[in-house]
Amino acid sequence: MYSIQTKDLKKIYTSGTVAVDGISFDVEEGEIFGFLGPNGAGKSTTMMILTTLLKPSGGQAFVAGFDVSTQQKNVRANIGYVQQDITIDEYLTGRENLLLQARLNHIPKDQIKPRINDLLDLVELDDKADDAAITYSGGMRKRLEIAGGLLHRPKVLFLDEPTVGLDIQTRQKIWEYIKKIHNEYKMTIFLTTHYMEEADRLCSKVGIIDHGKIQTIDSPSSLKSKLGGGIITITIENSPAKEELVSKTKQIEFVRDVTISDEKLTIFSSKGTEVAPMIFSLASNLGVSIKTVSITQPSLDDVFLSFTGHDLRDDTTQKSYNRRKEYRLKQRMKT
Ligand SMILES: Nc1ncnc2c1ncn2[C@@H]1O[C@H](COP(=O)(O)OP(=O)(O)O)[C@@H](O)[C@H]1O
Ligand SMILES: [Mg+2]
Repeated sequence: MYSIQTKDLKKIYTSGTVAVDGISFDVEEGEIFGFLGPNGAGKSTTMMILTTLLKPSGGQAFVAGFDVSTQQKNVRANIGYVQQDITIDEYLTGRENLLLQARLNHIPKDQIKPRINDLLDLVELDDKADDAAITYSGGMRKRLEIAGGLLHRPKVLFLDEPTVGLDIQTRQKIWEYIKKIHNEYKMTIFLTTHYMEEADRLCSKVGIIDHGKIQTIDSPSSLKSKLGGGIITITIENSPAKEELVSKTKQIEFVRDVTISDEKLTIFSSKGTEVAPMIFSLASNLGVSIKTVSITQPSLDDVFLSFTGHDLRDDTTQKSYNRRKEYRLKQRMKT
């Protein structure tokens, strides 16, 4: 049984931007599925289509068995959605925020209080529940939002970049809460992230998305084992023979791919320890001197590099997050 199914889903904004370029994937019931990709890859757009906030330009999507284009009400009744930006009201207390949300979600009156208490307990905010949310840290705000997304006991929980803008310790804490929630409620979770480690730690299946297309989908461990045994990273002195070294390295048996950025060569091979000496002798014949060498087991980082040809690490997501935060603060001060 699938919780989410998409078929050739497309979104072209009126500006002409093709944000989602024909993606098809299935998420099984009870799974934690992650979309991993850089800023601008199309993650939030896909999520907004799945949560019925945006209409697709083409293709189909089903969530909890309902068509997002024709059965929006049913879809909404079965999902929780925690947006990338914080949406809580800072001037209300944590508990008041949840009360407000419970009323908006038409939770039966007699169930509101016990559910809120359970959720405050689950995300460990019971101590602070009656303080104004403006006094909360970033991590506490996120926990409150996640609690809000769970009020109506959704079958599918959508988390858009749940830890963006948080420091690493807080991020790890949020991962623990997500795991705890998943254990407790056994719902399907669909999350997006541009943090490798987040996808690796939380997701049973990961779709790598770049430029609106899914490059590959698999469990983190099979993605890594697809890359085989050993990633060789070599830094070289800048040399006119660099390109030749790359093209000759590509011809070595067992080498599947080579990527280069500045002076760093990354070689994906099935037999790292055997291939490395061959590259040394190639380099020496071409007069290219090698500065450093390392052979490592593949990480999800390497998987990303291998499937997209570029690194995931960039700070643009953080920058745009900060920009939006600044904008919201300014808007607030105007009112
Ligand atoms: N409302 C919008 N109008 C026009 N273009 C948009 C809009 N929202 C996002 N985009 C563009 O669509 C692409 C995908 O954006 P998005 O889905 O937000 O990516 P991600 O969440 O992976 O960072 C980007 O090129 C972005 O600039
Ligand atoms: Mg996004």
